[in-house]
Amino acid sequence: LNAQIKMEAHASATYLAMASWCEQNGFFTSAKFFFKQSEEERGHMMKIFKFLVDTGGSPISPEITNINHDYASIVDVFENTLEHEVTVTKSIHNIVKKTRDLGDITAERFLDWFVMEQVEEENTIRDILDMIAVTGTEGVGQQMIDNQVANWIK
Ligand code: FEO
Repeated sequence: LNAQIKMEAHASATYLAMASWCEQNGFFTSAKFFFKQSEEERGHMMKIFKFLVDTGGSPISPEITNINHDYASIVDVFENTLEHEVTVTKSIHNIVKKTRDLGDITAERFLDWFVMEQVEEENTIRDILDMIAVTGTEGVGQQMIDNQVANWIK
């Protein structure tokens, strides 16, 4: 769970870097989306942190390094996001398997929320990538991406 705390913190910092990239490249609504995602990831980190506090564990405040700020395009940003979320999903599933091996029912039940949250997060990013594939990223397409991303923020 401490490794997962670190992963969620890394996601939070990565989405903040993506918000910065979006701001600098004219994708202002996408920037808002990533600011919000960044906050959500910190929320995920804190959920696990507090769970460890409540169950007598030893949560560790993570050190975060290697945050990429360099992206080739808005497609690259969202593709990286999906890749990141798929990695997080696998990690959560591995922890659930571990709780089953250990017979730790409390931790298994706690992780249910994360399993379903990952379904929602992956789905959101896939929807955005599907939409970008339709609109393209040139001219009006660029503006349409930002307009559509506004729907996901709601
Ligand atoms: Fe908390 Fe998007 O993984």
